[in-house]
Amino acid sequence: MSIEIKSRFPIFTEYPDLVYLDSAATTQKPDTVIAAITDFYQRGNANIHRGVYPLAAKATARFEASRDKVQRFINAKKREEVLFTPGTTAGTNLVAQSFVLPRLQKGDNVIITAMEHHANLIPWQVVCQQAEAELRVIPMSTKGELDLKAYSSLLSPKTRMVALGHISNTLGTINPVEDMVLEAKQQGVPVLIDVAQSIAHYPIDVQALDADFIVFSGHKLFGPTGIGVLHGKEEWLHQMKPYQYGGDMIRDVSFSNTTFAGLPNKFEAGTPNIAGAIGLGAAIDFLNAIDRASALSDLKHLQAYAESSLLALPGLSLIGTAKERTAIFSFALDDIHPHDIATFLGEEKIATRAGHHCTQPIMDFFGLPATTRASFSIYNTTDDVDRLVQTLAEIQAFFS
Ligand SMILES: Cc1ncc(COP(=O)(O)O)c(C=O)c1O
Repeated sequence: MSIEIKSRFPIFTEYPDLVYLDSAATTQKPDTVIAAITDFYQRGNANIHRGVYPLAAKATARFEASRDKVQRFINAKKREEVLFTPGTTAGTNLVAQSFVLPRLQKGDNVIITAMEHHANLIPWQVVCQQAEAELRVIPMSTKGELDLKAYSSLLSPKTRMVALGHISNTLGTINPVEDMVLEAKQQGVPVLIDVAQSIAHYPIDVQALDADFIVFSGHKLFGPTGIGVLHGKEEWLHQMKPYQYGGDMIRDVSFSNTTFAGLPNKFEAGTPNIAGAIGLGAAIDFLNAIDRASALSDLKHLQAYAESSLLALPGLSLIGTAKERTAIFSFALDDIHPHDIATFLGEEKIATRAGHHCTQPIMDFFGLPATTRASFSIYNTTDDVDRLVQTLAEIQAFFS
């Protein structure tokens, strides 16, 4: 991993000993993202879309320029298809309530996978309960690979949505979403892809992928929290009702009736996270300026190094061993409780996560209360892996 990239993240200057292995939860922020947010509040703060004074016009221009950056970044056909949301969770709920629920009849079904984050599970469970529809779950193997034959048999003329996580935040599995979209399309079934864990590392081209909706959060790709993107195909977005009502999403309002603005404003009620959108634009600029292909190749090397180093520890077992995976490792170590492991690691300035990672059904599947998870990103190094593995060995010695 390049030291130049790491030096762009001020948190590592502030805490030179920090080994940050929790990027699946949230990534650290590069200097230019922090500067863009600070600059907005110091020199550009005004509300958008309303004021006619220069500061407001500039704030609007910067906010909308970020939409253009997102459009180019994901290769959306039109900027109107890019909606700013508070994050992945908000985008999925919007699609569940505004797109699926009105189409869902008793006896219909929605398909998800056995490895979804709760954010791509509960919104569908709730609409299925509301409409007396069925939530169908594509099973997985103990390696954490989806059963694609089962997927084919779950698809039916009554399927109203297939909602898939691209990369599992717990198992690291990379799901074959391209093929799965194709299969759903052959049956005329719309697809949503949660790219929260892939967007930072893998190129996402929404036109090539041809999903109807994709959702992600800015904070997983080096941007701020509280901002995210829902990309939807224009034809669907036009048909959908707004999800929230209020300022900035209307055309005309009277006490007897309201007509709504066009896209994308129809889905962006209220003052949005303006600084967040500008910060997300800066995160995209940051990613566009680095060599993403070589960053991904470095990450894959680091993943291989981490995997062999972790597996060299007797008593360590990986939870999730799919062939296609990314640098996210959930593991068990002897019978030491994951919270003890993560606390001990934390005292040694190694940030990992212990818990169910918002995927309780995965924990149930593996019969575990929790796992420890180490997730890597572009600023991690082989030294980070060595410190992790060495400290895990000390933890083992302490508990034995
Ligand atoms: C795969 C996946 N989906 C959805 C989410 C939810 O993202 P957010 O909390 O930013 O809405 C996460 C966050 O960890 C995730 O990893």
